[in-house]
Amino acid sequence: MTFEEQTAFYKELVDKELERYMSFSDGLKQDKLFKAMKYSLCAGGKRIRPVLALEFCRVCGGEYKNALPAACAIEMMHTFSLIHDDLPCMDNDDMRRGRPSCHKAFDEETALLAGDALEMYAFDVLAGGTYCGVAADNVLKMIKMLAWASGHMGMIGGQQIDTEFEGQPLGLDELLKMYRLKTSRLLQAAAGMGCLSAGADGNTVRNALEYADRLGLAFQIVDDILDVCGDEEALGKPVGSDKEKNKYTYVSYVGLEEAKEKAKLLTDEALGFLTQFDGSEFLQQLTVQLLNRNK
Ligand code: IPE
Ligand code: IPE
Ligand code: MG
Ligand code: MG
Ligand code: MG
Repeated sequence: MTFEEQTAFYKELVDKELERYMSFSDGLKQDKLFKAMKYSLCAGGKRIRPVLALEFCRVCGGEYKNALPAACAIEMMHTFSLIHDDLPCMDNDDMRRGRPSCHKAFDEETALLAGDALEMYAFDVLAGGTYCGVAADNVLKMIKMLAWASGHMGMIGGQQIDTEFEGQPLGLDELLKMYRLKTSRLLQAAAGMGCLSAGADGNTVRNALEYADRLGLAFQIVDDILDVCGDEEALGKPVGSDKEKNKYTYVSYVGLEEAKEKAKLLTDEALGFLTQFDGSEFLQQLTVQLLNRNK
């Protein structure tokens, strides 16, 4: 299979599995909550994190299917982060994944709760991972990893710094620390859980976490670049959103050219960690594609 075929295969697999998890019975009083969860989760998106989980599992000697629960769980967690990120009290953005943000399509209360519910559902799905042949002790490790990556020491911690210090110049070092939390952590959980789904050892997992740390920094810097010179239609979310909120981003500190160079440097560092994995050609291509993406 070509890189494009493999990516499409993984994406379709994940989309189908997520649809399955989202087929709730109708007629219950909280039906609107179900609809809002499904609206945001099944709205497309690049599915980078699930693809990372499935492919890391494969390069670690597992069957990609072993990582399906982890892949779905990380996408639920990520979608929760996006729903809350768009809320009026956060970035106040009206578009996401090419359609009105959850709070616009429904209402703020429902969006808040849909995010909360997806966060919980992620752990539910992950804890059920043994049905895909993952050993129970590895499922436990994954639960811990997802909690670490998502909570106060991870994505949520980063979002706190992002909103609390909005409009205040933190400096480049602190900015990168914040990017590590808000963006790298979930990518690390995706890669790390992929390895654990295959029963990989500690050294292998640590390598994957280092890789995804650099990948995440590059990913967020590219996101900042696209917020300045991306195309709204391709991105499916507003451009100029950071400037509007006076957010200090990597681009606002060093300019577009230097930001592009930094993203390239971090991508090279990420690729360096992949040399520890046999058969990582797909991951290498994905890493480079994410640097050159337009959405
Ligand atoms: C957007 O993530 C949020 C960031 C961490 C920059 P993605 O760019 O992966 O969003 P989707 O999942 O494709 O919508
Ligand atoms: C993404 O930061 C971080 C999370 C959603 C955790 P952004 O606020 O830059 O993401 P976009 O640009 O809205 O997707
Ligand atoms: Mg934000
Ligand atoms: Mg945002
Ligand atoms: Mg952004």
